[in-house]
Amino acid sequence: MSTTNIRPYKGILPSIGSDNYIDKSAILVGDITLSDDVSIWPLVAARGDVNTITIGARTNIQDGTVLHVTRKSSENPQGNPLIIGSDVTVGHKCMLHGCQLGDRILVGMGAIIMDGAVIEDDVFIGAGSLVPPNKTLLSGYLYVGNPVKQARPLKESEAAFLKQSAINYVELKNEYLNN
Ligand SMILES: CC(C)(COP(=O)(O)OP(=O)(O)OC[C@H]1O[C@@H](n2cnc3c(N)ncnc32)[C@H](O)[C@@H]1OP(=O)(O)O)[C@@H](O)C(=O)NCCC(=O)NCCS
Repeated sequence: MSTTNIRPYKGILPSIGSDNYIDKSAILVGDITLSDDVSIWPLVAARGDVNTITIGARTNIQDGTVLHVTRKSSENPQGNPLIIGSDVTVGHKCMLHGCQLGDRILVGMGAIIMDGAVIEDDVFIGAGSLVPPNKTLLSGYLYVGNPVKQARPLKESEAAFLKQSAINYVELKNEYLNN
């Protein structure tokens, strides 16, 4: 058994891209693939044991977030891997379980996204929202609430901020890497 915070499961070790920042208190286990310039902040728990987790370039996963997946079964032959695209901001203390996120998404603090949910590109999810299983959130909208509802189209400034937030976090993790 490894005692580091990046651990194998059934012989598979997380695959880490270049220039990533992974806080020492974050735990990454098993079949996880991180692209480049990803940042994983304190107390994140990511468990790629019964299925896979993939995280795209320049995505940030903020403090206390939990990432997990659902195993394959006869009713659900592929199970539910967790796929997160590029330039995604996942705020503090979110729960992302077996869902699929596109590019340039902001997941507000404390949001929960459940199995089979699909978040298209360029979506803003308000803090504390709950996205139920298998729900699709359409590109270009703000969603809030429990269960989540489409609130309104994104303002231009909000749409621009989706990418800017990712840029901000790349800069911040570079400062941590050079600290
Ligand atoms: C949703 C959000 C984008 C604000 O959108 P907005 O359109 O400017 O909303 P407003 O502040 O004008 O509030 C409009 C209404 O939505 C409500 N509201 C605001 N945020 C909400 C949320 N997260 N969930 C549910 N309702 C929310 C307000 O109470 C208000 O309700 P009312 O009309 O009954 O008074 C913002 O509150 C939010 O959740 N941002 C996420 C920030 C975050 O978590 N960042 C990641 C960490 S770095």
